[in-house]
Amino acid sequence: MTKILKVPQHIAFIMDGNGRWATRRGLPRNAGHKAGVKAIEKTIDACIKYGVKYATFFAFSTENWKRSKEEIDGIFKLLREYIAKEDNLFVKKHVRLNSIGVLDPFPEDLKQSLEKTKKDTQNYDKLTVTFALNYGGRDDIIRAVNTLIKEGKKEITDKELLATLDTKSIPEPDFVLRTSGENRISNFMLFQMAYSELYFPKVLWPDFDEKHLVKALKVYAKRDRRYGGIK
Ligand code: FPP
Repeated sequence: MTKILKVPQHIAFIMDGNGRWATRRGLPRNAGHKAGVKAIEKTIDACIKYGVKYATFFAFSTENWKRSKEEIDGIFKLLREYIAKEDNLFVKKHVRLNSIGVLDPFPEDLKQSLEKTKKDTQNYDKLTVTFALNYGGRDDIIRAVNTLIKEGKKEITDKELLATLDTKSIPEPDFVLRTSGENRISNFMLFQMAYSELYFPKVLWPDFDEKHLVKALKVYAKRDRRYGGIK
């Protein structure tokens, strides 16, 4: 096993390229998402192996509702197969499941099984996997500010906002990785990513595996994080 000297505590993954992966093979887009789930599983195993404590996956954005019904239903189906089954991967691997985003518009059965798995795995601390579902960075900030206003706050601090965002139970990401060579943040965890290191490998998400994670960890280990200060 490759020894990595400085492992990020929290990696956030923007899983891009599923559609292109499928189109290049003459397959429907949902075949790309299905292969994307396999890549999530490999990444979860590799995160456990290398000691990453938090992995967050951008699975469905507030903008993804613009996609065809067929594609959206396909993603819901994958979520069902992955999380709803009794012996799901999280329970089996002792991984804590968490989610960010507004689950209200999701099908009732899916919401219930997500909540059940979250509850069943809440005490596991080896790795916390967070799925961003119907998540948008701006939406997260606006909802948190509105919550604080409703609580009667006239002014808020950085700390209060962080403690009200959907990510309140996980640390800010140290490393944000977007596959497929697109250099964009696409409304992901905008407030939380203020000092994250960014990395944009060319690999399409369905091809992402342990060797790509190791390469990413090596890139991160060489980064010099100064948080605006001077060394
Ligand atoms: C981006 O690729 C990918 C998505 C918008 C969806 C990712 C969803 C999954 C991997 C499945 C979710 C399921 C679980 C169980 C978490 P794209 O479709 O935008 O690719 P393209 O840019 O090549 O078209």
